[in-house]
Amino acid sequence: SVPSLASSDGFLQCLSSAIPKQLLYTQSSPSFTTVLVSSTWNPKLLTPSTVRPLVIVTPSSASHVQATVVCGRHHDVRIRVRSGGHDFEGLSYRSVRPEVFAVVDLNKMRSVRVNRNAATAWVDSGATLGELYYAVSKASKRLAFPAGLCPTVGVGGHFSGGGFGMLLRKYGLAIDNVLDATLVDAEGRLLDKKAMGRDVFWAIRGGGGESFGIVLSWKVKLVPVPPKVTVFSVSKSIDEGAIDILTKWQQVAPSLPEDMFIRVQVGVQKQVAEFQSLYLGTSGALLQLMERRFPELGLNQTHCKEMAWIQSVPYSYLGSAATVEDILNRTYSLDYSNKGTSDYVREAITKDVWVKIFGWLAKQDAGIMVMDPYGGKISSSPESATPFPHRGGVLYNIQYLNFWPAATNGASHVKWLKDFYAFMGPHVSKNPREAYVNYRDLDLGENVVVGNITSYKAAKVWGEKYYKSNFKRLAIAKGKVDPHDYFRNEQSIPPLVAGQ
Ligand code: FDA
Repeated sequence: SVPSLASSDGFLQCLSSAIPKQLLYTQSSPSFTTVLVSSTWNPKLLTPSTVRPLVIVTPSSASHVQATVVCGRHHDVRIRVRSGGHDFEGLSYRSVRPEVFAVVDLNKMRSVRVNRNAATAWVDSGATLGELYYAVSKASKRLAFPAGLCPTVGVGGHFSGGGFGMLLRKYGLAIDNVLDATLVDAEGRLLDKKAMGRDVFWAIRGGGGESFGIVLSWKVKLVPVPPKVTVFSVSKSIDEGAIDILTKWQQVAPSLPEDMFIRVQVGVQKQVAEFQSLYLGTSGALLQLMERRFPELGLNQTHCKEMAWIQSVPYSYLGSAATVEDILNRTYSLDYSNKGTSDYVREAITKDVWVKIFGWLAKQDAGIMVMDPYGGKISSSPESATPFPHRGGVLYNIQYLNFWPAATNGASHVKWLKDFYAFMGPHVSKNPREAYVNYRDLDLGENVVVGNITSYKAAKVWGEKYYKSNFKRLAIAKGKVDPHDYFRNEQSIPPLVAGQ
């Protein structure tokens, strides 16, 4: 049942005494719904029955965030924090079960401060990846940052789960390039790397959003890129040999030089496998490399486009007509709902299985697979270097996605996704079957709360899929920084404390 609203009144009064009124949106505020949906990208997660926050706080300074935590602790109201709102399960703004909670939405804390000479930047969690990339390229055309493809994804949630994109083979994950951070903990203290200590600084870099406190900003190391990069996108139909080429891609893509990244998107309703690439060099060098290592793709000069790295960001994600300014646009269509999940592949899938996979992708109401090759820098760190464990030995990540018109319930699309995921079991990583926390899927397991503390034992079911053996260390870090389990959601890290 929903906790009594008595504590909520006290909480709201506490907030009003510490935070300007115009930064608070209660359910009765005329703008409440507009603010709530502002960074939601999946309409199925906001229906009339969605459990909404009591209030949305849009802090403009660290002290507002600290005050919200202090009020929340005092009045026993939990907080969910939202940066870009792209969580696959909407855990940054909705609760799966009835609960009185507040959302801290960081959309007013989104500055990016680049130090060109030092090749570093401080980026606030509320910034989008597009805003980060844009600010970096304004400061220098020779600098970049390795993170995800979608420009509207928020820095806060993305970094919390690792974060990878087209530079992953050369420079690893976003969190492999984090030097410092500021965190508001469950006591309302504002801590930097030194003050939070080694274990917590390790945990916030990949241990998933929400669990350890609210990360306000991150100091990142920027990475060098050449003045021109080359991009291509080549589609192959089944008749053009898509299945053979894909079978070979599994071995080639993770072992190419680090400057080369080729991802694949397969959706047989479009009847093609689409190979999308970023190469950190000129088209001449790229063509030579492809001729030597992957002639089956049939790449030629007409497929290749040279451009500055920053231009490759809209080109790769938004299409060839998009401009660099488009990566600052935060609006997107709410016409389709979606469901996603993920896998990791450590042993190449055989051709006969690919034939069956293409059969699955041709079914009615089927979705798509997006595959990102690993190898290179992302795979060279030890599994324990950060909470993100999917490194040495991983050939590639699979993201499964299915979409349906928002006005329909999508039951057959979700069923397809679940059935296909079950079919893939024997062909992907095992013991545990690994998954990427940033492609969050509550079907992998949800927390169970025992005596007002999230159960470690129950959480292992989903936790070891996301973190492998790093899960225990994450739970110990949680036990140190938030032993009372204040920062909690359906897949937050449980505190591991003596006797549990
Ligand atoms: P959101 O604000 O919803 O937060 C996600 C989680 O982190 C929530 O649990 C939230 O409470 C918590 N959180 C948010 N801000 C926090 C903070 N400041 N401190 C502590 N916890 C915080 N991933 C990838 O690696 N590469 C890619 O290319 C893409 N592409 C992509 C495209 C699209 C369209 C979507 C929807 C998603 C992706 N992703 C991705 C996945 C993405 O990295 C993932 O959904 C991130 O968690 C989103 O971060 P947001 O801040 O937008 O989400």
